[in-house]
Amino acid sequence: MLILITGTRTGLGKMLVKYLIERGHTVIGCSRREGMRMPSGYIHFNVDLTHSESVTAMFHKIRKSYGYIDALVNNAGVSIMEPFLLSDLDSTKRLYNLNVFSVMQCCREAVKLLKNSRSGSPSILNISSVARFFSLEGHLAYATSKAAVEQLTRSLSREVAPLNIRVNTLGLPPLRTALTRTLKKEKIEALIARQAIKRPCEFLDIVGPVEFLLSDASSFVSGETLYLGGVR
Ligand SMILES: NC(=O)c1ccc[n+]([C@@H]2O[C@H](COP(=O)([O-])OP(=O)(O)OC[C@H]3O[C@@H](n4cnc5c(N)ncnc54)[C@H](OP(=O)(O)O)[C@@H]3O)[C@@H](O)[C@H]2O)c1
Repeated sequence: MLILITGTRTGLGKMLVKYLIERGHTVIGCSRREGMRMPSGYIHFNVDLTHSESVTAMFHKIRKSYGYIDALVNNAGVSIMEPFLLSDLDSTKRLYNLNVFSVMQCCREAVKLLKNSRSGSPSILNISSVARFFSLEGHLAYATSKAAVEQLTRSLSREVAPLNIRVNTLGLPPLRTALTRTLKKEKIEALIARQAIKRPCEFLDIVGPVEFLLSDASSFVSGETLYLGGVR
């Protein structure tokens, strides 16, 4: 498959690039800077996803080079932790620009390429968080941005189903990345205690569900948010 993943310099995006390339997929990725030691065959775009012209230009180049993609993983995301009453509108807008509006733009652009997919069941995969599911204090902007992504998943799945395109979301518990490095150990442990499976989420816990949701094996699954770790 030809898979486009956003936010590939670090964290989950970088790990997914390596894993999917090892499994024989072609992976295109983007982030503002390129990650260190990326696997050969990986194609990177240096793009700030909050600049809509840059996003349009990236999709234009992908269209010219390939003419299609088989999957889009909207992985790039930022988090801020602050009491809502002390937060300011500008930082919320910055977060929404990436977590919501860039996801919308990537979906809009990607559909034009997914329509030409060679896979039996092209799809979009978004990423959400238990911060949304648990309505975590201090995470209002982040949690509401992920709530928007989950709703986008449901709404868009209906619009693109006639084009044979599926849209799903993976909801993640805390994972050790740059995004969570400021979270206190006790806070992470308290979150894990709320999971049915009481251990930290590891990268290998995520790849199976990602592969499933991107593959033909889930060709009758769309509009869903699948949470890991047993939080529902
Ligand atoms: N880690 C967790 O515990 C956890 C839990 C639940 C959900 N999630 C979700 O999982 C996804 C990945 O998170 P992560 O933990 O892997 O985070 P991360 O390590 O901070 O990675 C975020 C990636 O996004 C890129 N990025 C940030 N701003 C960007 C922009 N404006 N334009 C383009 N790329 C940008 C970063 O690269 P550059 O800086 O080079 O741009 C980086 O590669 C996010 O959607 C997050 O909300 C994470």
